[in-house]
Amino acid sequence: MNERVLITGASGFVGYHLIEEALSQNLEVFVAVRKSSKTDHLKDFNIKLTYPKFSDIAALTAEIKANQYDYIIHAAGVTKAKSQKQYNHINATYTANLAKAAVAADVKKFVFMSSLAAGGPLTTLNGIISESDEPHPVTQYGRSKLLAEKELKNIPGLNYTILRPTAVFGPRERDIFIVIKQIVKGFELYIGKAEQKLSFIYVKDLAVATLKAIHGGNKKTYNIADGNFYTKYEMANIIKDILQLNTIKFHLPVTFVKLVASITEKISYLSSNTPALNLDKLNELLGTNWACSIEAAKQELGFYPRYNLDKGLEETIKWYKEHKWLK
Ligand SMILES: NC(=O)c1ccc[n+]([C@@H]2O[C@H](COP(=O)([O-])OP(=O)(O)OC[C@H]3O[C@@H](n4cnc5c(N)ncnc54)[C@H](OP(=O)(O)O)[C@@H]3O)[C@@H](O)[C@H]2O)c1
Repeated sequence: MNERVLITGASGFVGYHLIEEALSQNLEVFVAVRKSSKTDHLKDFNIKLTYPKFSDIAALTAEIKANQYDYIIHAAGVTKAKSQKQYNHINATYTANLAKAAVAADVKKFVFMSSLAAGGPLTTLNGIISESDEPHPVTQYGRSKLLAEKELKNIPGLNYTILRPTAVFGPRERDIFIVIKQIVKGFELYIGKAEQKLSFIYVKDLAVATLKAIHGGNKKTYNIADGNFYTKYEMANIIKDILQLNTIKFHLPVTFVKLVASITEKISYLSSNTPALNLDKLNELLGTNWACSIEAAKQELGFYPRYNLDKGLEETIKWYKEHKWLK
């Protein structure tokens, strides 16, 4: 019998690529979704859908025992929410509940998709983020992921690996896609003129790293990026090269963007929508230095990224065009 893995967050951007990678490694794949999840794009995969209740540890334990999962990859999470409470509930409490159930059901390994946001950016351009740095998240999202990490570390008997991916891009991604669409329209928008050091990871490499983590790095935390550092203009420069486009650059004053973000945030409280830009997200976008070391993932997980930003964007833009997201 093939080993079994449960992938949560399977209906999302990263989840799709985790399924693809897990199937390529001959794992039997169960995916956790909600009744409301969009799953049409998963219909050609040989997978089994399950609907776990993340608020109920006993029910989670029963499901894990019934389906005899060997591994759990927990990628379900919110990247946009309206309050710290909401972030903590979904990103930390649900994670701890699932992990407690995993221990009760003797799961061999629990891989948690945290985020580089849990550690936070460096405040100067010098240096790179290491897993051993004192965490100082600058967003509610980052604080909720850090809380989840802390809770996992306190669950007796849990075999876990925590992954902290930097900004992820690739086919099906929707936030960096907004930047690509702006470039296609002929303009590049930047918030302020301050220099920044950024890092990225192509989603297929993240999927490889995640599957490596089911077999290694017990009780360890790993930054996941492509190992390179980029200026804030580099992504747009590569996209323009690939699409053979010229653009006009606009540097919006930080105070102006903060004002707009606070207005959209207030409006969003009146609706069920969570805006792509709010004051919290802005703290992340303005981070000075998101360059991170991936030496630990290389040495201990054997994770060697195959894609840099150029190669990953080339493949991503091809996918957006083939799937008519871009003309
Ligand atoms: N994308 C990045 O740049 C990035 C970077 C670092 C870390 N991460 C982490 O990677 C994971 C996947 O991110 P993503 O970019 O793939 O996000 P995504 O496309 O928004 O997918 C999020 C997934 O989580 C599920 N989910 C959200 N709220 C849930 C809830 N209350 N109960 C059950 N499931 C819920 C969603 O299910 P529905 O389809 O039902 O909504 C979806 O499957 C997240 O944990 C995120 O924090 C992402």
